[in-house]
Amino acid sequence: MEKLIIEGGRPLHGEVRISGAKNAALPLMAATLLAPGRHKLHNVPDLRDTRTFIRLLEHIGVKSERSGDLLILDSTELVDAEAPYSLVKTMRASVLVLGPLVARLGKARVSLPGGCAIGARPINFHIMGLERLGVTCRLEGGYVDAEIDGPLQGNVIYFDIPSVTGTENMLMAAVLAEGTTVIKNAAREPEIGNLIDMLRSMGARIEGRGSDKLIIHGVKKLNPADCAIIPDRIETGTYLIAIAATGGSGTVTHCNPSHLPSLLEKLRTAGLRVTEAANSISIDWPNHPKNSSVLRSVDIKTMPYPGYPTDLQAQFMALMALSSDLCVITETIFENRFMHVAELQRMGATIRIDGHSAVVSGRGMNGLCGAPVMATDLRASSSLVIAGLAASGRTEISRIYHLERGYENLVEKLSGLGAKVWKEQEE
Ligand code: EPU
Repeated sequence: MEKLIIEGGRPLHGEVRISGAKNAALPLMAATLLAPGRHKLHNVPDLRDTRTFIRLLEHIGVKSERSGDLLILDSTELVDAEAPYSLVKTMRASVLVLGPLVARLGKARVSLPGGCAIGARPINFHIMGLERLGVTCRLEGGYVDAEIDGPLQGNVIYFDIPSVTGTENMLMAAVLAEGTTVIKNAAREPEIGNLIDMLRSMGARIEGRGSDKLIIHGVKKLNPADCAIIPDRIETGTYLIAIAATGGSGTVTHCNPSHLPSLLEKLRTAGLRVTEAANSISIDWPNHPKNSSVLRSVDIKTMPYPGYPTDLQAQFMALMALSSDLCVITETIFENRFMHVAELQRMGATIRIDGHSAVVSGRGMNGLCGAPVMATDLRASSSLVIAGLAASGRTEISRIYHLERGYENLVEKLSGLGAKVWKEQEE
């Protein structure tokens, strides 16, 4: 296993290029199961999770070719309709094959994912939604066995809570259903817009893109896709926060500023200057942050899009640990997404957890010091990287395979911004 070493306390400066979004690439890769043929996906990030997803698709019978960020998936012949536990347990997003497999083959067998570091994360909405479309779902031996004789039947699906992968699975199931499906209280994340664009380009008929009510008129067949993955808004936000936390300045390129409405406002409220262009965002300090009390404390509450994203909560907490006052960070999406708190405390942060909120008493821009810490999940790990970059001295982050699930070329990108960071084998 490898660990990440950071010699912190160096302001980041320069430009960093954003990769394609992990959470858009995964559903778009799943959508290739819907239509036989060669699909072309551009701007696909090379990550542990996208590689795991390719292995899953290959298990199902899809052939893959990769050349740079172009991924060609040939789903002409499917040989198995199963997502086995060995793959699902390492990546919950494997559940995304459920909808397209039942839609195309009339059956799917997908392992239940079990718990994960950030919460219970059930898939009951996915199952309920398929049942509404006429699919019979049985739970047996840790697997969901989904089956239907003939095409799925359009219906109304209502989500109690907007679910991102739930909405994506229902979209992929409903596009080949007989009749019209309406998804109410659908999630509105930009990754869903990306999936809708791909499905439309394949011949699907979907109304309501960007809203919480999606109307899908089923079609009999779809064509192979040629589609690009949108930029990763969470990677974008992570680099913006990292630059801010180190007192640096820089430009994040190849991103989409309109996908980060809440974060950009929070950064401005905290005292940063944030300038948006068509495909880039620049960030700097209006006054050089020599003075350790320049960063204002700002409360955040995670919400479904366009609210503040849960996937940027941990990173913002690392920033707020360096602020000048007190703030409250409330997590409303996942019940156990404060695993980074104890690790940030090891670096000198003053944070108290009170139910679903964390009360952060900022210690000023020079308030953190390096320490050995442990990565627990993907986004918790990136908050430790940010803390390590801002802290004085050396930080060692172990279990960095979590980071490799979602950040392409992290060490190279941070080094390009002037960070002193490298990987070492753990003893
Ligand atoms: N929920 C249920 N039942 C379900 C599905 C969801 O109760 O059947 C609940 C969840 O427990 C949670 C809420 O609904 O409280 C919303 O969860 P959602 O289904 O939206 O999460 P997800 O689709 O499993 C995706 C991302 C996550 C991101 C969340 C929230 C992908 C592959 N994953 O997960 O990304 O945190 O949406 O925005 O798109 C990450 O990238 O680090 C990550 C965890």
